Amino acid sequence: MSRASGGRPRVFVARRIPDEGLTRVLAETDADLWTDALPPPRDELLRRVRGVDGVLSLLTDRVDDELLDAAGPQLRVVSNFAVGFDNIDVPACTRRGIPVGNTPGVLTETTADFAFALLMAAVRRIPEGHDYVRAGHWKTWGPMLLLGPDVHHATLGIVGFGRIGKEMAKRAHGFDMTVLVHDAYPPSAEEQAALGVTAVSQDELFARSDMISLHVNLTPDTRHLIDAAALARMKPTAVLVNTSRGPVVDQVALADALRRGVIAAAALDVTDPEPMSPDDPLLALPTCLVVPHIASATHATRGKMAQMAAANLLAGLRGERLPTPVNPEVYDRSRAG
Ligand code: DGY
Repeated sequence: MSRASGGRPRVFVARRIPDEGLTRVLAETDADLWTDALPPPRDELLRRVRGVDGVLSLLTDRVDDELLDAAGPQLRVVSNFAVGFDNIDVPACTRRGIPVGNTPGVLTETTADFAFALLMAAVRRIPEGHDYVRAGHWKTWGPMLLLGPDVHHATLGIVGFGRIGKEMAKRAHGFDMTVLVHDAYPPSAEEQAALGVTAVSQDELFARSDMISLHVNLTPDTRHLIDAAALARMKPTAVLVNTSRGPVVDQVALADALRRGVIAAAALDVTDPEPMSPDDPLLALPTCLVVPHIASATHATRGKMAQMAAANLLAGLRGERLPTPVNPEVYDRSRAG
């Protein structure tokens, strides 16, 4: 292990994270902390990881063979401050015997709360109402002003029925919604009964749902899962919510569908790329609500994510099993090199 003077392991921390985790990292390592608000540019990132024992990365930092080569063979752990890890080439880390950690569980309810908030906002046209008032158009109470569908008793389609999808279903039950789900690993009949959901094919979910919320991981199979063909299967009154990853939706197809009334509205917490350009055609559409990837952004949740990211990093540096590894198979293999 490469040790700085004082014997503490060297780590690169790619952004300031909440104190709940940062304090421990700074106390127990020789940390190079990137303090800018923006992520380190690629060349800077490659330079800063040289010779470190651990990297605490964010979803904005690509961890791939190039970065692992730049870091060097002493690298013992990559800890991602996120539950998603599509920014990391996990097989590349596994090949080198490097465990990768993420932060599952602690942001589940917070993200589901936010997905439901986006759903409510888009369906009940809250951003449009706010824009209307700000623009000075509000002259009187209008019997036909900004009408939208009801959320209660509507049918919600949940694509991806993992932890967050299940929490979304609970929230939907509070609104007496019918909940359809689709997942690559469908819930059993008993689970469906217990959770009050019905598993259906993806096409049936698209056709029957009034609102559709995406909760899948980004993989080659889910990239552009929502394309022109999928949108065409939805109801013209459908509202699409995405809090998963931007590339799950083909945004060109979405903009076209919203413009032509193929579906009614969309609410996106995640976009492709991030950040979305202010010139993006979606931002010109009143029926598209976009926010800057903030579904897990509560004080408590980000604090817990920081604790978990620190715990993973420090365990990896000590050569212990990470509390939440995404590649546990790394422990079954003899470390390469
Ligand atoms: C994650 O953790 O993957 C979210 O997208 C950010 O909290």
